[in-house]
Amino acid sequence: MLRIIFLLSLLFALSNASVQDFCVANLKRGETPAGYQCIRPIHVKSKDFVFSGLGTAGNTTNIINAAVTPGFVGQYPALNGLGISTARLDLAPKGVIPMHTHPGASEVLFVLTGSITAGFISSANAVYVETLKPGQVMIFPQGLLHFQINAGKSSSSAFVSFNSANPGLQILDFALFANNLPTELVVGTTFLDAATVKKLKGVLGGTG
Ligand SMILES: *[C@@H]1O[C@H](CO)[C@@H](O)[C@H](O)[C@H]1NC(C)=O
Repeated sequence: MLRIIFLLSLLFALSNASVQDFCVANLKRGETPAGYQCIRPIHVKSKDFVFSGLGTAGNTTNIINAAVTPGFVGQYPALNGLGISTARLDLAPKGVIPMHTHPGASEVLFVLTGSITAGFISSANAVYVETLKPGQVMIFPQGLLHFQINAGKSSSSAFVSFNSANPGLQILDFALFANNLPTELVVGTTFLDAATVKKLKGVLGGTG
């Protein structure tokens, strides 16, 4: 009898347990390693779960002839705490997403239009490169350097997803040549010559 009462009370307790289904980010509060604070569920509307930012091509009039349109937690607050995010790539002819890493996530890339040569370099410095056509998918394991480059004569585009709400993005050329790391240290750590480093700093906006 006691056991039945215990089971019934357990059942009752479980049926009333409130599960936190989502935590739409309050972007006005700072981000912590655990994500953002939630806005109160009473203020969450169905449209908060919809992101319209990937519907149009990004502006590819720039040095890389390409655009990354992120749907990370900063743009799409409903992703907060769910460990997923999305992005769109647009590559004009000759467009390239330069060598980069996402420190916080693995990536799945789905080619929508055109043709894209994509690849990554493993920790063992093995190279994995493929040319993809529409409908093909390639993965880029977490933290590894990788790139995408338009392989055709027309524009190409891709839909991307990540297993983090905030995958991060670090572009290798920008890390080396778009900041004030002194030229002599860039030369010393890359074995490039100073003239090349100065030239790339000039192109990418670096100083020093
Ligand atoms: C795209 O970016 C370029 C360079 O910043 C700018 O001149 C141009 O107006 C932009 N095009 C559109 C449609 O926003």
